[in-house]
Amino acid sequence: MRILAIESTCDETGVAVVEKFGKGVKVLTNVVASSMDIHTKYGGVVPEVAAREQIKSIIPVITEAIKEIDKIDAIAVASGPGLMGSLLIGVETAKALAWAWNKPLIAVNHMVAHVMANWLLDDRSQITDHRWPVPEFPAVGLVVSGGHTDFIYMKDMENWNWIGGTRDDAVGEAFDKVARLLGLPYPGGPEIDKSSQRADEKEWKEFAKKNKLPRPLINDPSLDMSFSGLKAAVARMTQDYRSQISDPKFKGLVAREFTEAVSEVLVSKLARAIEKYQPKSVILAGGVAANSRLRERLRIAVEQLGISFFVPELKYCGDNAAMVGAAALMRPTTVDLSLTPDPGLGVV
Ligand code: KG4
Ligand code: ZN
Repeated sequence: MRILAIESTCDETGVAVVEKFGKGVKVLTNVVASSMDIHTKYGGVVPEVAAREQIKSIIPVITEAIKEIDKIDAIAVASGPGLMGSLLIGVETAKALAWAWNKPLIAVNHMVAHVMANWLLDDRSQITDHRWPVPEFPAVGLVVSGGHTDFIYMKDMENWNWIGGTRDDAVGEAFDKVARLLGLPYPGGPEIDKSSQRADEKEWKEFAKKNKLPRPLINDPSLDMSFSGLKAAVARMTQDYRSQISDPKFKGLVAREFTEAVSEVLVSKLARAIEKYQPKSVILAGGVAANSRLRERLRIAVEQLGISFFVPELKYCGDNAAMVGAAALMRPTTVDLSLTPDPGLGVV
C-alpha cells in the first residue's frame, strides 16, 4: 500500500509518498514548502497569506513529490485541526486527486499524525532493517505543539484517550510569546532553543537563584498543566531587566531558565502519567519535540524507568506530510468525496 499524503493545516504545504515497511513506515519522498519567511515579518502566521501561498505551491509540491513514483494506491489528507483557508486547499486538492485517479481518500487528524511520526523509519535505518523498533502498546503520548499540550493514553493502535493537558496556553505558544518578549523573531521556539544553548551553565545557575521562574502546577497530582502564568512571569522579568533586554547573554539566561521551567513541569507530569498508566513506551510528538533540552531531559527521565522512549527525527517533529501518510497507513479512515475540513481544536 503506497500513499500520497498532503499536509496544509497551517503555514506549510507538505506532500509525501510513504509505504508500510516492517512494523513501521518508509518515506519515499517528502517535500515541504513553507511561507514562514513571509509570516516572520508580521510576527505570526497570517491565515490569509498562508492560504494564498499554499494555492501557489500545492501543485509544484505534488509534482516534485511524485516525480519518480510510478504507483499510488490511496490519497491521504490532514483535514483538521488547523486554519480553515489552509485546510481547504489540502482537502480540495486531495479530493480532486482521489476523483481523477479513482483512488480511496483517507482523512487524518493532524494531532494523530504528529503522534504517528514516531512510526516513520529513521533515515539511519537504511531502509533495509525490518526490525527497526516502533513504539509498543500500551503507550503514553505527550503532544507538544503550537496549539496543543496533551497527554494521551494509547491502549493499542485504535483506542486512544485524552488523559490530561494544558488549561490555557500550549507549550509552543508560550515559547513563541517568550521569544517575542525577548525580541527574538517568529517562530520563537527554535530561537529560544538556540539562545538557551548559548547560556553558560554556571551563569544560568547563578541567574536562576535570584530569578527562578515558576513551575506551574508541578505539585498538583493531576495531569493538568498551565503555561500562561509562566509567560506572564517572563514578561515581569523582562520589565525588571529592561536595560539588559537587548543583551544576547541576558536573552540566553532567560531562554535557558524558561526552557528549564517547561522541561521540569513536563518531566514531572510525565512521571505521574507513567506511574498511573504503566506504559511500555512513551511517545513525544509535535513541533516543540524538536527542542534539544526537552528531548534530552524527557529521554533520560523515561529511560531511567526502563521504559522505551520515542521521539521523531527533527525534520518530522514540525508539520510535514510524511506523518499524515503514517497515520493513514496505520489508522486508516476512508471517507468519501463529501469530506469537509474540520478546523476545530479537536483533541485526539
Ligand atoms: O507542531 P507544529 O509544527 O505546529 C502545530 O501543529 O502547532 O508546532 C509549532 C510549534 C511552534 O510554537 C514553534 O515555536 C515550536 O513548535 N517549536 C519549538 C522548536 N521548534 C519548533 N519549540 C521549542 N524548541 C524548538 N526547537
Ligand atoms: Zn502541527
